[in-house]
Amino acid sequence: GAAVEVDISALQPGEKMTVEWRGKPVWIVRRTKEQVDALSKNDGELADPKSERKAYPIPDYAKNEWRSIKPEYLVVIGVCTHLGCSPSDKFAAGAQPSLPDNWPGGFLCPCHGSTFDMAARVFKNKPAPDNLEVPPHMYLADTKLLIG
Ligand code: FES
Repeated sequence: GAAVEVDISALQPGEKMTVEWRGKPVWIVRRTKEQVDALSKNDGELADPKSERKAYPIPDYAKNEWRSIKPEYLVVIGVCTHLGCSPSDKFAAGAQPSLPDNWPGGFLCPCHGSTFDMAARVFKNKPAPDNLEVPPHMYLADTKLLIG
C-alpha cells in the first residue's frame, strides 16, 4: 500500500488524531510531559514493557519504553491484538470498578476489557496478548510524518 503523509502541526498535547493506512486506523497521540514521565512506572504490570517480543514486527526505533521515535509522539495501529476491536481513549484513568486500580490510563478495549497504557502497551496482560502494533514510519520534518 501507498505511504501516507500526515501533517501533525495542529495536534495539541493530550490529543489524538487518526489516519488510515492500508485500511487500518493509525493513531498519532501527542503525549503530555506527565504522560511521558509516567511511562517508566508500572513496568511490572506490563506484558512486554520494551516491545521485545517477536510475535509481531516492531520497528527497532519503537523498541523502547515510549515505543516511538520521539517520546512526545506515539504512532500505533488502533486495532486490539486480542480479536481486532478498536480500543477507545481513556487518557485519564478515573475510577471505574471493572478496571485495574493502578492502571494509569491510555486505551480501553470495549470488547473484552483489555487495558493499554499511554504507549499502547498491554497492561495486566488480559486478554490481549500483545502491545498494539507500530507501523513503519519516519519524520519528513518536525511536524510531518510519513507512515508506511
Ligand atoms: Fe480487545 Fe478482545 S478484542 S479485548
